[in-house]
Amino acid sequence: MYETFDQIADDIAGRLEEAANSRHSPMHTPVVATRDADARVMVLRAYDRATRTLRFHTDARSLKCDVIGEGAPVGVLLYDQAAKIQLRCRGTGRIERDGPIADAAWEASTTFARRCYLGDGPGTEVEQPSSGLPEWVEGRQPTEEEVAPAREHFAVLLVELAVVDWFFLSNDGHRRAVIDMVTRVGRWITP
Ligand SMILES: Cc1cc2nc3c(=O)[nH]c(=O)nc-3n(C[C@H](O)[C@H](O)[C@H](O)COP(=O)(O)O)c2cc1C
Repeated sequence: MYETFDQIADDIAGRLEEAANSRHSPMHTPVVATRDADARVMVLRAYDRATRTLRFHTDARSLKCDVIGEGAPVGVLLYDQAAKIQLRCRGTGRIERDGPIADAAWEASTTFARRCYLGDGPGTEVEQPSSGLPEWVEGRQPTEEEVAPAREHFAVLLVELAVVDWFFLSNDGHRRAVIDMVTRVGRWITP
């Protein structure tokens, strides 16, 4: 069933779209790796097939934003245990705090989601175990007005995919292909 590189390129795009659109997808929370040899779980928010771009939401004050900045290599690792498919995506990441993509993402998010950006930035040292959120908003949904100041801490991470290493575990023989996402040209490699 996976015989051509076109089929595999379509399989990758379909899985990334599904991963973004369904919070029940096993690929909804991939691991995002940066050039500083660090990696973290993030929620995949969107995949745009036309531009081959993954979108994540993050706090502009987080360490990964410094590491990625306006452009840096980023790896994104996803695994679907039932489908037995691993996707190792590589591309160029960039952080956008302003502009139409970040604005639209902020507009589309709930006040509950926006609340995360109200507190201290991720990685801030604290005396006691703490969410970093101001006390007045702990455990309750804030109003639109109350979360408005959080906008300045919100950013999107956009990862434009260059290459995906696609790995299919099968009793009939594992299959592995590397797909150039721009040209859709692929090559088989041993698993
Ligand atoms: C299930 C899960 C989902 C997460 N989703 C996000 C997310 O969408 N965006 C984000 O910035 N951090 C998310 N995090 C937190 C990150 O893993 C990480 O702790 C945080 O972004 C700080 O990373 P940094 O110090 O490398 O910048 C999530 C963590 C978990 C466990």
